[in-house]
Amino acid sequence: MSSPVVLITGGLTGIGRAAAVAFAKKGANVVVAGRRDEAGKALAEELRGFGSEAEFINADVRKEDDVRALVDRTIERFGRLDVAVNNAGTEGRPGPITDQTAESYAATFDTNVLGTLLSVKHELRVMQAQGSGSIINISSTYGHEGGAGASVYVASKHAVEGMTKSAALEAANSGVRVNAVAPGPIETGMLDRFTGTSERKAALLKTVPLGRVGDPADIARAAVFLASEDASFITGQILTVDGGKTAG
Ligand SMILES: NC(=O)c1ccc[n+]([C@@H]2O[C@H](COP(=O)([O-])OP(=O)(O)OC[C@H]3O[C@@H](n4cnc5c(N)ncnc54)[C@H](OP(=O)(O)O)[C@@H]3O)[C@@H](O)[C@H]2O)c1
Repeated sequence: MSSPVVLITGGLTGIGRAAAVAFAKKGANVVVAGRRDEAGKALAEELRGFGSEAEFINADVRKEDDVRALVDRTIERFGRLDVAVNNAGTEGRPGPITDQTAESYAATFDTNVLGTLLSVKHELRVMQAQGSGSIINISSTYGHEGGAGASVYVASKHAVEGMTKSAALEAANSGVRVNAVAPGPIETGMLDRFTGTSERKAALLKTVPLGRVGDPADIARAAVFLASEDASFITGQILTVDGGKTAG
């Protein structure tokens, strides 16, 4: 294949942005999706500097019309969709479960779960017809362990992992692979918002055996691997990238 076509949701910051840069540097044509036009156009311009035929498309993953149009416009522009990184996510409103509400639940699940569902649905629509493709959902170590003060986010990422495995089973006979990457603590705006104070962030980092916070590029490289031919027999799996945090 010439240049694979890669779609990344929530692609303007943090892990999504690092994935966009990593795929562009590997020679992919990249569609970055996000909610802020100016930042999106600037990122697409930056990606073109790596030789990528990059495009920005405005899409809120909670809205099915946006997600449908995102996939359709990708096909109109590039004719195919080879890789999708479903990265858009929110920490919601962290705090004890006794403080959670229907609103805090919806604020988290609408992006993390409904957003992933709509993305996978419309990506599979074109990938299954194409007979090939690789979908990578961004979960979290909280997708397969508990986290005090993060119950709703934890529940949402457990849902992402269950959905990933189910979609993999449904898509396998069409040649489409569906996996997830589960990051540990990664240096992004979300980690700062989650921890709230430098003391809490430092305490969290002490729990990482490799002794450092992850870089968004660590997650980007895992996504590039799962998208590649080197991972051609891997589907329905959750690849944890956490510096050993959940090994104990
Ligand atoms: N950082 C960590 O320690 C960590 C650990 C485990 C998993 N993760 C996961 O990694 C993914 C990326 O997070 P990050 O750490 O890179 O944080 P981030 O920089 O805050 O990135 C989240 C991105 O998602 C976008 N987004 C949020 N809601 C959206 C919506 N409804 N529609 C479209 N885009 C939306 C945000 O765009 P706006 O700027 O428009 O809000 C932002 O660009 C998330 O799924 C997160 O749960 C992160």
